[in-house]
Amino acid sequence: MRPDILPLERSNQFCRENNLSVPILLSPMAGACPPALSIAVGKAGGMGACGVLLMEPEAIGEWMREFRSACRGPVMLNNWIPDPVPVPDPLREAAVRNFLERFGPKIPDGIEQKQPPDFAEQCEAMLNARPDVISSIMGLFKPGFVKRIKEAGVKWYATVTTVGEAVEAAAAGADVVIAQGMEAGGHRGAFDAENASERMVGLTSLVPGVVDAVDVPVVAAGGIADGRGVAASLALGASGVQIGTGFLRCPEAGIPTAWADAIGLARPEDTIGTRAFSGRYGRSLRTTYAEHANRPNSPNPSPYPIQRALTQSMRDDANRTGDIGRIQAWAGQSAGLAQAGSPAELIGDIWPEAQRILGC
Ligand SMILES: Cc1cc2nc3c(=O)[nH]c(=O)nc-3n(C[C@H](O)[C@H](O)[C@H](O)COP(=O)(O)O)c2cc1C
Repeated sequence: MRPDILPLERSNQFCRENNLSVPILLSPMAGACPPALSIAVGKAGGMGACGVLLMEPEAIGEWMREFRSACRGPVMLNNWIPDPVPVPDPLREAAVRNFLERFGPKIPDGIEQKQPPDFAEQCEAMLNARPDVISSIMGLFKPGFVKRIKEAGVKWYATVTTVGEAVEAAAAGADVVIAQGMEAGGHRGAFDAENASERMVGLTSLVPGVVDAVDVPVVAAGGIADGRGVAASLALGASGVQIGTGFLRCPEAGIPTAWADAIGLARPEDTIGTRAFSGRYGRSLRTTYAEHANRPNSPNPSPYPIQRALTQSMRDDANRTGDIGRIQAWAGQSAGLAQAGSPAELIGDIWPEAQRILGC
């Protein structure tokens, strides 16, 4: 990081280079990022985002058409880098099934074999949709795809959770690194799934560590939901911020009311790290299910995507009935700061407050 440059000069430069009016990016949130949310963030001067993890290629194109029909602003498409294919473990899966059927309906036979959408086809669809940014999490894109992203004039933002991962990402050609602190809601983007819960680095240590280690701009993510968090992140050396949970109470996010309401009531200690929803470690509200599943005598979750398939019936039932005890209620540690207004109102509060704190 250039030591002589002030936080607001740095974020202004980032805004100019990325066609933004405010250095605020919506988090790509698979399953919780309808076009309406990105359109509203884009119209307020930030960057829209879509996590395509669960989407078939046609749906990715459709999402982008809907976004572009209403907003010319910058937008990011994001995908998970797949983990190695897990080895089935029938005994463990049976134990998980028994446990889950205490919380939800009967789990259909053979659901463990359900495959997620094809990663390579999703990547083609992301390129064809011509976003401004393609971002990665849980690892890095292969060099061939990175080359194609760049040839298409698209930027690659790589999510990292450690300084080591940031150095790898910059060496692989990332234009920007997104430093995801342990405060973050949703899945933790550790490159190695096994390490995700052990290497928990908070944003106050991660951002300066990453900024000092790489030459590309750094976007801070995790537990940022008001002007104080934005100002602190920029003061630590970030060029911009990514906010997820902080936008989930906006009506445009369209999440179940029980989840949105619980976010507003959560204190930092009311979230929990767990693999019990998907098999990949992530941060959710401390719900009845997550709390029980994390107990030492509960069965070890299966790896992603087997665990995700096994919990589908319970999650669907919970969403249908609005039962917060079983909803996959991802949330970051600053959930309680999330406001229920529109994205324009939120950004209209957050950014002036950050500028004021930074002395502008
Ligand atoms: C509901 C939800 C879904 C998420 N899905 C994704 C995803 O698909 N891809 C991704 O890179 N990050 C995902 N994340 C993590 C965010 O990108 C980001 O790191 C996080 O929202 C920042 O923390 P915050 O929620 O405290 O603002 C998700 C987060 C949430 C809350």
